[in-house]
Amino acid sequence: MLLRCLRWIRVKITQRAQRFLLRVLASGPIPQHVAFVMDGNRRYARRHQQAIHEGHSEGFVALRRMLEACLRLDIRCVSAYAFAMDNFRRSPEEVDHLMKLAHEKLMEMSLHGQILEEYGVRLNVLGNRSLLPDYVQEAICHVESVTRHNNKAILNICMSYSSQDEMTTAVESAVRNSLEKSDPDICEITEHDISAQLMTAGSPPLDILIRTSGVKRLSDFLLWQCSEDTQIHFSKAYWPEFGLLDFVPILLDYQRKIWRQRLPTRRLRQ
Ligand code: FPP
Ligand code: MG
Repeated sequence: MLLRCLRWIRVKITQRAQRFLLRVLASGPIPQHVAFVMDGNRRYARRHQQAIHEGHSEGFVALRRMLEACLRLDIRCVSAYAFAMDNFRRSPEEVDHLMKLAHEKLMEMSLHGQILEEYGVRLNVLGNRSLLPDYVQEAICHVESVTRHNNKAILNICMSYSSQDEMTTAVESAVRNSLEKSDPDICEITEHDISAQLMTAGSPPLDILIRTSGVKRLSDFLLWQCSEDTQIHFSKAYWPEFGLLDFVPILLDYQRKIWRQRLPTRRLRQ
């Protein structure tokens, strides 16, 4: 009984401290779009003597945790790399578990009173969805349709996603549009035409990209969207253990950058 009481007090104190931290951070400049490469689920599972699918389930818990932190900070858009096209090369059992997990969690998130409704989040699934099993495609259509009028924030779940595939399709569409509009002998397309055809067309520019688990690669994720202003961070934490305390230094780094950019303008005005 006493132990339960102490645990309850600890949870309450942690929650209050986190809320306070988020309020302090929210008073500074806030990025509009943060993306996560959620890496390290299997290594986390192995380290904790768990089955691989448990590592992925814990990965979803971390995604929900970070999504809520981002929404409380008023970050307008969160993108998460949930399944790379390349992940189809994993064992059929693992792919099957990931698909079942995606289906279960997408359906759960679409429910009344859940996080997407609470924070007014529109969910988009980015990627080649025709490669996904029918039941996952149905769950995607359902959650996208239920959340389509939410306009406070965007959650992009990327599955089965490949940036090179996205760019190829975007260039094809931009060329087709250009040829339809003008002289078929002259095909002029700009960066803007390609950006407008990307799956992230409705999302704000990418401010921060975070990859966990100590691996320093982009793995075919949002390659076009990583502009010269995007801050890329590599965290040593495995994704399931990534939390607010890992995120805070990254946000502070972003805020420092924005303040530095604003400084000369303010001095010039004085
Ligand atoms: C990478 O870690 C993680 C994945 C391939 C899957 C990520 C999926 C989730 C966190 C859940 C997604 C939820 C929804 C709603 C779609 P890894 O498997 O590469 O681990 P490792 O780097 O340790 O091998
Ligand atoms: Mg990995």
